[in-house]
This record gives sequence, structure tokens and C-alpha cells, in this order.
Amino acid sequence: MRRAKITIVGAGNVGATTAHWCAAAELGDIVLVDIPATGDMPKGKSLDLLQSMPIAGADVNVTGATDYGPTAGSDVVVITAGVPRKPGMSRDDLLTTNAKIVSAVAEQVKATSPDAIVIVVSNPLDAMVQCAQQVTGFPPNRVIGQAGVLDTARYRTFIAMELGVSVEDVTALLMGGHGDTMVPMPSCTAVGGIPITRLMSKERLDQIVDRARNGGAEIVGLLKTGSAYYAPAAATAQMVEAIVRDKKRIIPCAAYCDKEYGVGGYYVGVPVVLGSGGVERIVELQLDADEKVAFQKSVDAVKGLVQVMNQLLAK
Ligand code: NAI
Ligand code: 2OP
Repeated sequence: MRRAKITIVGAGNVGATTAHWCAAAELGDIVLVDIPATGDMPKGKSLDLLQSMPIAGADVNVTGATDYGPTAGSDVVVITAGVPRKPGMSRDDLLTTNAKIVSAVAEQVKATSPDAIVIVVSNPLDAMVQCAQQVTGFPPNRVIGQAGVLDTARYRTFIAMELGVSVEDVTALLMGGHGDTMVPMPSCTAVGGIPITRLMSKERLDQIVDRARNGGAEIVGLLKTGSAYYAPAAATAQMVEAIVRDKKRIIPCAAYCDKEYGVGGYYVGVPVVLGSGGVERIVELQLDADEKVAFQKSVDAVKGLVQVMNQLLAK
């Protein structure tokens, strides 16, 4: 059977680390792409990663490039190209620069891998994934944003730390945009099958949600020169795995919602069934009154950002 071909655009922190997770899990052959100004950097990182495969025991190929020739016919393309945040910046501050970068990348993906499933990671995420869909013109179920797996992983980590239990036993869901308006779902949070509301006070859970919501900024504040990449890359690799192994996992992703949740044609974080067809189904939950208000606020923030982006791209 042919191995999947996975292209990762942007060989920086998130891109190279995603390549590492994907290669070690033997998800497919990987092509790591960056701009010509980076010289041989993508080739150097790819060769280094390839030489770790005998130790990892994974039979995959990893190549680096500064053009899209070697990426042709990819099954999955991950877009991490763009600039990351610095202390004091919000994800939205990256809009102007990254919209141009993601548009340029999406043009190349459309031309070289017309059947690919595209996972966008670049920030501000919900606008960038919409940008990639608009430019490629791919069916919306084949263009997906990574945010929810990461945000939920942060939330799960903090719950496990608080309760002194295994992270493996914490299952949870966060919805909405990848920003300050993300929506916690205590009704969908459980530890070893026990609803979180039976294990922790609402006040403590609210504090944990807040820490997860600011999880990206917390890392930026510590690193000072860029943003998180280990957890974002692991989250992205989990999505790649769900697609190339057709796992049909229920994962929170930025997915195109039209009638779903009454969103009206925007990308926003919702639970989806992720498999070889990309977003195979959006799972529609009945939201309670508080969740509805919080979700709508998040959708409105995403819409505002997309409108600004579309004005910028029209200039
Ligand atoms: P980085 O600066 O380490 O790497 C970005 C790479 O993109 C650089 O190597 C740069 O040369 C490359 N690049 C720039 N323009 C390009 C183009 N036109 N074509 C190909 N490559 C290009 O940044 P890092 O930390 O890897 O972050 C990348 C992006 O991912 C940022 O926008 C960041 O905010 C976002 N991010 C999103 C997360 C999420 O959960 N959605 C989590 C973490 C980061
Ligand atoms: C994060 O949440 C910066 O979006 C990135 O870490």
C-alpha cells in the first residue's frame, strides 16, 4: 500500500515539530517546505529528522524544499507558514502579515496538490483557515483548522494537575474560536467517566478554563521570542493521524459551519468526525443558555476578524 504523502509548509518551530511527531508515528512520507530566503534550512532539518528514523524505528522519508515541486500530489498539507506572536501581541495582531503569507501558500497548494486535505495552523487561526479555503476553492470539509485539540489539551492538562490524576483519564471539549472567547463546555468534561462538576467547584473550574484560554499567552510570556510549539505540533499530528488512518475520531477542529450551530458560513471550533474524507460530520450539540451566549460571542469575534481580513485581501 502506498504511504501517505504529507507536506508541511513552514519549517519553523511548529512545522518542524509537527514533522517530527508525524515521522515518529510513521504517518507517511513528509516534505517540509519553507521560503527560498531560508536557504537550505528545510533540507537540513529534514535530513536531521530522517537520520533519527533508524532510532525511532520508523520507515518514512523526510525531504526538505524551498519550492512546491516535491510536494506535488500530497494527501495532506499542513500550513504553519507565518509569523508567531511576541509578548504583548494578540493572535489577531498577526492578521495582515499572515493573511498574505497564507494566501500565497494556498495558491501553491491548489496548483500542486489539488486533492489534498489541508490543515491550517497559522494564526489568527479562524481567519487563516477561511483564507485558505477561499483561495484554494477546495470543498470546505477538506480545509480544517487546528486549535481545539490544543486548547482542549491545555484544559485537560490543568484539570489533571489539579486533581492529581492521569491526563489519559481526562476527556473534554472546548468550542468557539482560537482566542480569548473560546467556550468551555463543563457538561462535556469528565474524568474517568465522572462528570467534572462532581469533582471540582464551579469557581475552581472557571479558573482552570481561564488558564486554558490564556494558555498560548502564558507560553509566549515565558519564551519571549515566539509562541508554543510542542503541544501545537502534537495536536496537529493527531489530526493528520485521524485523516491518514481514517480513524473517524471526534475531535474539536475549526470547521466550516453554515447551518450548523446557526453560524452562517464561517470557520469556528466545533466537534467533528475526522477521517479520510476530512471533516466527515459536524457533531451538533444542544447548547445550554450560557453556552449559546458564549458561542455566539466567539462566532461574532471570528466574523469581525474575517471581515477585516477580506477587506485587506481585496486591496
Ligand atoms: P516560526 O517563525 O518558528 O516558523 C514559521 C515559518 O514560516 C518560518 O520558518 C518562516 O520562514 C515560514 N514562512 C514564512 N512565510 C512563508 C511562506 N510564504 N511560505 C512558506 N513558509 C513561510 O513560527 P511558529 O512558531 O512555527 O508558528 C507558525 C504559525 O503558527 C504562527 O502564525 C503561529 O501563531 C501559529 N500557531 C498556531 C497555533 C494554533 O494552535 N493554531 C499554535 C502555535 C502557533
Ligand atoms: C497558541 O495557542 C500561539 O496560538 C498559539 O499557543
